Amino acid sequence: MNMEQVRYVDEAITSRHSVRAFLDTPVETQTIKDILAVASRAPSGTNVQPWKVYVVTGQKRAEMIDRVCAAQIELLQKPELAAQYQETFAYYPETWISPFIDRRRANGWGLYGLLGIQKGEKEKMAAQQLRNFQLFDAPVALYFTVNKIMGIGSKMDISMMIQNVMVAAKARGLDTCPQAAWNHFHPIVLDILGAPEDEELICAIALGYADPDHIVNTFITPREPVENFTVFLD
Ligand SMILES: Cc1cc2nc3c(=O)[nH]c(=O)nc-3n(C[C@H](O)[C@H](O)[C@H](O)COP(=O)(O)O)c2cc1C
Repeated sequence: MNMEQVRYVDEAITSRHSVRAFLDTPVETQTIKDILAVASRAPSGTNVQPWKVYVVTGQKRAEMIDRVCAAQIELLQKPELAAQYQETFAYYPETWISPFIDRRRANGWGLYGLLGIQKGEKEKMAAQQLRNFQLFDAPVALYFTVNKIMGIGSKMDISMMIQNVMVAAKARGLDTCPQAAWNHFHPIVLDILGAPEDEELICAIALGYADPDHIVNTFITPREPVENFTVFLD
Protein backbone atom coordinates (compact mmCIF):
# COMPACT_ATOMS: atom_id res chain seq x y z
CA MET A 1 0.00 0.00 0.00
CA ASN A 2 1.49 3.38 -0.96
CA MET A 3 1.26 6.52 1.19
CA GLU A 4 -1.71 7.89 -0.75
CA GLN A 5 -3.65 4.68 -0.12
CA VAL A 6 -2.67 4.80 3.54
CA ARG A 7 -4.11 8.32 3.74
CA TYR A 8 -7.39 7.12 2.19
CA VAL A 9 -7.69 4.32 4.73
CA ASP A 10 -6.89 6.66 7.62
CA GLU A 11 -9.35 9.22 6.29
CA ALA A 12 -12.17 6.64 6.08
CA ILE A 13 -11.49 5.65 9.71
CA THR A 14 -10.98 9.09 11.20
CA SER A 15 -13.80 10.84 9.33
CA ARG A 16 -16.36 8.35 10.64
CA HIS A 17 -18.44 9.82 13.39
CA SER A 18 -21.91 9.17 14.70
CA VAL A 19 -24.47 10.98 12.56
CA ARG A 20 -27.82 11.75 14.16
CA ALA A 21 -29.68 13.47 11.31
CA PHE A 22 -30.05 11.84 7.90
CA LEU A 23 -31.57 12.81 4.55
CA ASP A 24 -34.32 10.59 3.15
CA THR A 25 -32.19 9.82 0.06
CA PRO A 26 -32.42 6.04 -0.46
CA VAL A 27 -29.35 3.81 -0.41
CA GLU A 28 -28.86 1.38 -3.32
CA THR A 29 -29.27 -2.26 -2.27
CA GLN A 30 -26.13 -3.13 -4.25
CA THR A 31 -24.16 -0.56 -2.21
CA ILE A 32 -25.35 -2.19 1.03
CA LYS A 33 -24.36 -5.62 -0.31
CA ASP A 34 -20.91 -4.29 -1.27
CA ILE A 35 -20.43 -2.79 2.21
CA LEU A 36 -21.45 -6.05 3.89
CA ALA A 37 -19.18 -8.11 1.62
CA VAL A 38 -16.18 -5.91 2.49
CA ALA A 39 -17.13 -5.88 6.20
CA SER A 40 -17.33 -9.67 6.28
CA ARG A 41 -13.56 -9.77 5.81
CA ALA A 42 -13.44 -9.00 9.56
CA PRO A 43 -11.52 -11.55 11.60
CA SER A 44 -13.33 -13.91 13.93
CA GLY A 45 -11.95 -16.51 16.32
CA THR A 46 -11.25 -19.68 14.25
CA ASN A 47 -13.18 -17.97 11.42
CA VAL A 48 -16.61 -18.84 12.88
CA GLN A 49 -18.14 -15.66 11.33
CA PRO A 50 -20.89 -15.57 13.97
CA TRP A 51 -22.63 -12.48 12.59
CA LYS A 52 -26.06 -12.20 11.04
CA VAL A 53 -27.37 -8.92 9.60
CA TYR A 54 -30.94 -7.80 8.90
CA VAL A 55 -31.27 -4.91 6.44
CA VAL A 56 -34.53 -3.08 7.10
CA THR A 57 -36.03 -0.48 4.76
CA GLY A 58 -39.47 0.59 3.47
CA GLN A 59 -42.58 -0.87 5.12
CA LYS A 60 -40.63 -3.01 7.61
CA ARG A 61 -38.69 0.08 8.70
CA ALA A 62 -41.95 1.96 9.22
CA GLU A 63 -43.37 -0.93 11.28
CA MET A 64 -40.18 -1.08 13.38
CA ILE A 65 -40.26 2.65 14.08
CA ASP A 66 -44.00 2.65 14.91
CA ARG A 67 -43.88 -0.28 17.29
CA VAL A 68 -40.66 0.59 19.10
CA CYS A 69 -41.50 4.29 19.44
CA ALA A 70 -44.89 3.29 20.91
CA ALA A 71 -43.12 0.96 23.36
CA GLN A 72 -40.63 3.66 24.38
CA ILE A 73 -43.42 6.18 24.97
CA GLU A 74 -45.37 3.62 27.02
CA LEU A 75 -42.24 2.81 29.03
CA LEU A 76 -41.77 6.48 29.90
CA GLN A 77 -45.34 6.59 31.18
CA LYS A 78 -45.13 3.24 33.01
CA PRO A 79 -41.57 2.74 34.34
CA GLU A 80 -42.70 -0.58 35.88
CA LEU A 81 -42.50 -2.05 32.36
CA ALA A 82 -38.68 -1.74 32.49
CA ALA A 83 -38.30 -5.39 33.57
CA GLN A 84 -39.89 -6.42 30.27
CA TYR A 85 -37.27 -4.45 28.36
CA GLN A 86 -34.06 -5.63 30.04
CA GLU A 87 -31.05 -5.91 27.74
CA THR A 88 -29.85 -9.49 27.25
CA PHE A 89 -26.30 -8.41 28.12
CA ALA A 90 -25.14 -5.42 30.15
CA TYR A 91 -23.51 -2.97 27.79
CA TYR A 92 -22.68 -0.51 30.56
CA PRO A 93 -21.50 -1.10 34.15
CA GLU A 94 -23.96 -0.96 37.03
CA THR A 95 -21.60 1.34 38.93
CA TRP A 96 -19.65 3.97 37.04
CA ILE A 97 -16.16 5.16 37.92
CA SER A 98 -13.88 7.94 36.65
CA PRO A 99 -12.66 8.61 34.03
CA PHE A 100 -15.40 6.76 32.14
CA ILE A 101 -18.33 8.50 33.84
CA ASP A 102 -16.69 11.90 33.18
CA ARG A 103 -16.32 11.18 29.48
CA ARG A 104 -19.87 9.83 29.34
CA ARG A 105 -21.23 12.99 30.97
CA ALA A 106 -19.15 15.27 28.73
CA ASN A 107 -20.51 13.38 25.73
CA GLY A 108 -24.14 13.69 26.83
CA TRP A 109 -23.94 17.35 27.73
CA GLY A 110 -21.95 18.17 24.59
CA LEU A 111 -24.68 16.66 22.45
CA TYR A 112 -27.54 18.20 24.43
CA GLY A 113 -25.75 21.57 24.48
CA LEU A 114 -25.63 21.66 20.68
CA LEU A 115 -29.33 20.81 20.57
CA GLY A 116 -30.15 23.55 23.10
CA ILE A 117 -31.25 21.06 25.78
CA GLN A 118 -30.55 22.27 29.33
CA LYS A 119 -30.29 20.28 32.58
CA GLY A 120 -33.74 19.27 33.84
CA GLU A 121 -35.46 19.59 30.44
CA LYS A 122 -36.75 16.05 30.64
CA GLU A 123 -39.27 16.31 27.82
CA LYS A 124 -36.67 17.53 25.36
CA MET A 125 -34.30 14.76 26.49
CA ALA A 126 -37.02 12.16 26.01
CA ALA A 127 -37.75 13.55 22.53
CA GLN A 128 -34.06 13.28 21.61
CA GLN A 129 -33.91 9.73 23.02
CA LEU A 130 -36.94 8.87 20.85
CA ARG A 131 -34.97 10.02 17.78
CA ASN A 132 -32.98 6.78 18.22
CA PHE A 133 -36.10 4.79 17.44
CA GLN A 134 -36.88 6.97 14.43
CA LEU A 135 -33.41 6.00 13.19
CA PHE A 136 -32.58 9.72 13.13
CA ASP A 137 -34.57 9.57 9.84
CA ALA A 138 -32.03 7.23 8.20
CA PRO A 139 -33.63 5.23 5.37
CA VAL A 140 -31.83 2.01 6.33
CA ALA A 141 -31.52 0.12 9.61
CA LEU A 142 -29.08 -2.72 10.07
CA TYR A 143 -29.73 -5.07 13.00
CA PHE A 144 -26.89 -7.36 14.03
CA THR A 145 -27.47 -10.66 15.80
CA VAL A 146 -25.43 -13.65 16.92
CA ASN A 147 -26.51 -17.12 17.95
CA LYS A 148 -27.09 -17.27 21.73
CA ILE A 149 -25.01 -20.42 21.98
CA MET A 150 -21.88 -18.44 21.06
CA GLY A 151 -19.82 -16.97 23.88
CA ILE A 152 -18.63 -13.46 24.64
CA GLY A 153 -16.00 -13.92 21.92
CA SER A 154 -18.69 -13.71 19.25
CA LYS A 155 -19.55 -10.23 20.52
CA MET A 156 -15.91 -9.28 19.88
CA ASP A 157 -16.07 -10.81 16.40
CA ILE A 158 -19.28 -9.07 15.38
CA SER A 159 -18.03 -5.76 16.78
CA MET A 160 -15.09 -5.87 14.40
CA MET A 161 -17.45 -6.59 11.55
CA ILE A 162 -19.70 -3.70 12.62
CA GLN A 163 -16.77 -1.28 12.63
CA ASN A 164 -15.89 -2.46 9.12
CA VAL A 165 -19.47 -1.73 8.02
CA MET A 166 -19.20 1.84 9.32
CA VAL A 167 -15.82 2.49 7.69
CA ALA A 168 -16.80 0.88 4.37
CA ALA A 169 -19.99 2.98 4.41
CA LYS A 170 -17.98 6.13 5.09
CA ALA A 171 -15.67 5.37 2.15
CA ARG A 172 -18.80 5.34 -0.07
CA GLY A 173 -20.06 8.72 1.15
CA LEU A 174 -22.52 7.19 3.59
CA ASP A 175 -22.79 7.81 7.31
CA THR A 176 -23.85 5.75 10.28
CA CYS A 177 -24.86 5.79 13.91
CA PRO A 178 -24.24 2.65 15.94
CA GLN A 179 -27.19 2.18 18.30
CA ALA A 180 -27.35 0.02 21.40
CA ALA A 181 -30.58 1.80 22.36
CA TRP A 182 -32.59 -0.78 20.42
CA ASN A 183 -31.28 -3.63 22.58
CA HIS A 184 -33.84 -2.86 25.30
CA PHE A 185 -36.62 -3.56 22.83
CA HIS A 186 -35.15 -6.86 21.59
CA PRO A 187 -38.44 -8.79 21.98
CA ILE A 188 -40.19 -6.41 19.57
CA VAL A 189 -37.23 -5.97 17.22
CA LEU A 190 -36.57 -9.72 16.87
CA ASP A 191 -40.28 -10.38 16.38
CA ILE A 192 -40.48 -7.86 13.51
CA LEU A 193 -37.28 -9.27 12.00
CA GLY A 194 -38.74 -12.78 12.18
CA ALA A 195 -35.49 -13.88 13.86
CA PRO A 196 -35.31 -17.43 15.24
CA GLU A 197 -35.50 -17.92 19.04
CA ASP A 198 -31.78 -18.67 19.28
CA GLU A 199 -30.65 -15.25 18.05
CA GLU A 200 -29.51 -12.41 20.29
CA LEU A 201 -29.65 -8.75 19.23
CA ILE A 202 -26.22 -7.10 19.55
CA CYS A 203 -26.95 -3.62 18.23
CA ALA A 204 -28.25 -1.65 15.29
CA ILE A 205 -26.76 0.81 12.84
CA ALA A 206 -28.67 3.69 11.26
CA LEU A 207 -27.32 4.04 7.71
CA GLY A 208 -27.83 6.75 5.11
CA TYR A 209 -26.67 10.09 3.76
CA ALA A 210 -25.99 12.68 6.46
CA ASP A 211 -27.98 15.90 6.56
CA PRO A 212 -25.12 18.36 6.06
CA ASP A 213 -27.13 21.29 7.47
CA HIS A 214 -28.20 19.78 10.79
CA ILE A 215 -26.30 21.11 13.78
CA VAL A 216 -26.28 17.73 15.53
CA ASN A 217 -23.92 16.44 12.85
CA THR A 218 -21.28 19.02 13.77
CA PHE A 219 -20.73 17.12 17.03
CA ILE A 220 -17.19 15.70 16.92
CA THR A 221 -16.10 13.83 20.00
CA PRO A 222 -12.59 14.09 21.49
CA ARG A 223 -10.09 11.26 21.93
CA GLU A 224 -7.34 10.78 24.46
CA PRO A 225 -3.79 11.07 23.10
CA VAL A 226 -2.03 7.75 22.49
CA GLU A 227 0.31 8.12 25.48
CA ASN A 228 -2.71 8.31 27.82
CA PHE A 229 -3.94 4.83 26.97
CA THR A 230 -0.78 3.03 25.83
CA VAL A 231 2.12 1.46 27.65
CA PHE A 232 5.24 0.94 25.57
CA LEU A 233 7.51 -1.75 26.96
CA ASP A 234 10.96 -2.43 25.61
C1 LIG B 1 -21.95 -0.15 20.51
C2 LIG B 1 -22.34 1.30 20.46
C3 LIG B 1 -23.63 1.68 20.77
C4 LIG B 1 -24.03 3.01 20.67
N1 LIG B 1 -25.34 3.33 20.90
C5 LIG B 1 -25.76 4.59 20.64
C6 LIG B 1 -27.15 4.90 20.71
O1 LIG B 1 -27.99 4.06 21.04
N2 LIG B 1 -27.54 6.15 20.41
C7 LIG B 1 -26.65 7.12 20.02
O2 LIG B 1 -27.08 8.25 19.74
N3 LIG B 1 -25.32 6.86 19.95
C8 LIG B 1 -24.87 5.63 20.22
N4 LIG B 1 -23.53 5.31 20.10
C9 LIG B 1 -22.59 6.34 19.60
C10 LIG B 1 -21.63 6.85 20.65
O3 LIG B 1 -22.24 7.80 21.47
C11 LIG B 1 -20.41 7.44 19.89
O4 LIG B 1 -19.77 6.43 19.19
C12 LIG B 1 -19.40 8.10 20.83
O5 LIG B 1 -19.95 9.22 21.47
C13 LIG B 1 -18.15 8.54 20.04
O6 LIG B 1 -18.54 9.45 19.01
P1 LIG B 1 -18.32 9.18 17.46
O7 LIG B 1 -19.00 7.89 17.10
O8 LIG B 1 -19.00 10.36 16.79
O9 LIG B 1 -16.86 9.11 17.20
C14 LIG B 1 -23.09 4.00 20.26
C15 LIG B 1 -21.77 3.61 20.00
C16 LIG B 1 -21.39 2.28 20.09
C17 LIG B 1 -19.98 1.90 19.77
